[in-house]
Amino acid sequence: MVSEKWASALLLLQLCCAGCGLCGKVLVWPSDMSHWLNVENILKELTDRGHEVTVLTPSSALIIDHSKPSALNFEVVSVTYDKDSILNVLNDFTEVAVTVMPTLSPWQSAKKLQEFFLRITEINRILCENIVYNQSLMRKLQESNYDVMLIDPMFVGGELVAEFLALPFVYTLRISIGNTIEKYCGQLPTPPSYVPVAMGGLVDRMTFMERVKNVMLDFILNFWFQQFDFHFWDQFYSGALGRSTTLCETMGKAEIWLIRTYWDFEFPRPYLPNFEFVGGLHCKPAKPLPKEMEDFVQSSGEDGVVVFSLGSMVKNLTEEKANLIASALAQIPQKVLWRYKGKKPATLGTNTRLYDWIPQNDILGHPKTKAFITHGGTNGIYEAIYHGVPMVGIPMFADQPDNIAHMKAKGAAVELNMNTMTREDLFNALRAVINEPSYKENAMRLSRIHHDQPMKPLDRAIFWIEFVMRNKGAKHLRVAAHDLNWVQYHSLDVIGFLLACVATAVFLVTKCCLLSYKKFGKTGKKKKRE
Ligand SMILES: *[C@@H]1O[C@H](CO)[C@@H](O)[C@H](O)[C@H]1NC(C)=O
Ligand SMILES: *[C@@H]1O[C@H](CO)[C@@H](O)[C@H](O)[C@H]1NC(C)=O
Repeated sequence: MVSEKWASALLLLQLCCAGCGLCGKVLVWPSDMSHWLNVENILKELTDRGHEVTVLTPSSALIIDHSKPSALNFEVVSVTYDKDSILNVLNDFTEVAVTVMPTLSPWQSAKKLQEFFLRITEINRILCENIVYNQSLMRKLQESNYDVMLIDPMFVGGELVAEFLALPFVYTLRISIGNTIEKYCGQLPTPPSYVPVAMGGLVDRMTFMERVKNVMLDFILNFWFQQFDFHFWDQFYSGALGRSTTLCETMGKAEIWLIRTYWDFEFPRPYLPNFEFVGGLHCKPAKPLPKEMEDFVQSSGEDGVVVFSLGSMVKNLTEEKANLIASALAQIPQKVLWRYKGKKPATLGTNTRLYDWIPQNDILGHPKTKAFITHGGTNGIYEAIYHGVPMVGIPMFADQPDNIAHMKAKGAAVELNMNTMTREDLFNALRAVINEPSYKENAMRLSRIHHDQPMKPLDRAIFWIEFVMRNKGAKHLRVAAHDLNWVQYHSLDVIGFLLACVATAVFLVTKCCLLSYKKFGKTGKKKKRE
């Protein structure tokens, strides 16, 4: 009886589901840290709409908690490395990026970065091997009949699983180093004359020397990209699939690219019909703050508060730096909420409170918030755009310098350099963004652009994932550039052919002229002699 009831209830549910549209099965290849926080919003929305979502995750994931009850299913892959080994790689990287790299030449920095990526590749290889070479797991995935795969390409491997399962897939990403993945694998047009190369820290209006830098960066990253660990993955993919292929070719099969930015943040640039800009999809109206925090915020009175966070990866500053920052913060009339896990700085003012964690979106949306001091992570920047809060950016690595450069160019931020800034610099920057109205106005302008869209970014992301499920792909949006080689793409063969035609024509004409000149010249001479 009971089971019958259940069965009919289930049937009803399914009917409703079918009535409400299509209930699909989504397989997710996640990345970790802040990337996961962003993707989680999409997954929650998918499950809310009745889709079944399964996340393929390594047993040692850092912040993906697969033991907690959740609307998501987790397919946990046991791996031989543990959390600590990943944490070590990340911490080493943060350490190197924050303290060592600024003292190195660009070439040495690139080498350091490469070392780091090779360590990530090694970890990634183990995960990939434990999935695609585990036949029982692959059979299980095959039998689950998924409709689509959602992949964050920060960690390589998702597209290989999609290829094995013959599934259409959707990418979700912020950006790849030098735009290499979007540009070479996704065929996104990226003219270096006005599209700044990702991670170069440049803006769209470049001086001649900046364009030189941009083109050179483009070239170096292109070269680097070719060398880099792509070679390793080309072999890995070819070996796994049993036919000759490349990582880029496999990545290029993505049906839709969901990019985590939007025109409030991006500079205008060409894009393709299968690129969708969904920046800020995680932003929500602010919720009330915890009581203690709200009281502290209210105690600031007319002056308001400043929110300070360097993100989840920087936990710790040198004592000197922490004291410098704390003493600058102590000088401002605002109250400060500082997310910081390190030792309490001796110069900490009475207006500043340290927190292990802050509900960042809720505080940024608080009417008393005047400014946001940020390392420039995309999630945080978008929360500031959403709520219209001007920023002081202290970028350190990855996409952060770019993000801050964008906000600075749009007049919503002041940029500081962590390594060279003085107490006065930080104090003046804060005073500027809080007291000069242009920063607030520009932040509000970006906020208006962000909110004035026909469809919310999250809804657009979901729409395209569902579109791919309903239509088994989005091949109608795929540009034919994918089928051309480099020479064909740039029409070099055509230019060569046309040049050859012109050359032949010129050659023939000259030859004819010479011949006729000789002939008529000779006859003329002959006639003269006669
Ligand atoms: C292969 O996958 C199955 C099912 O997920 C799992 O139980 C098993 O431990 C895996 N085998 C290896 C060698 O990892
Ligand atoms: C903080 O930095 C100090 C020295 O710079 C180091 O000894 C300590 O382990 C670090 N703590 C954390 C939590 O990273």
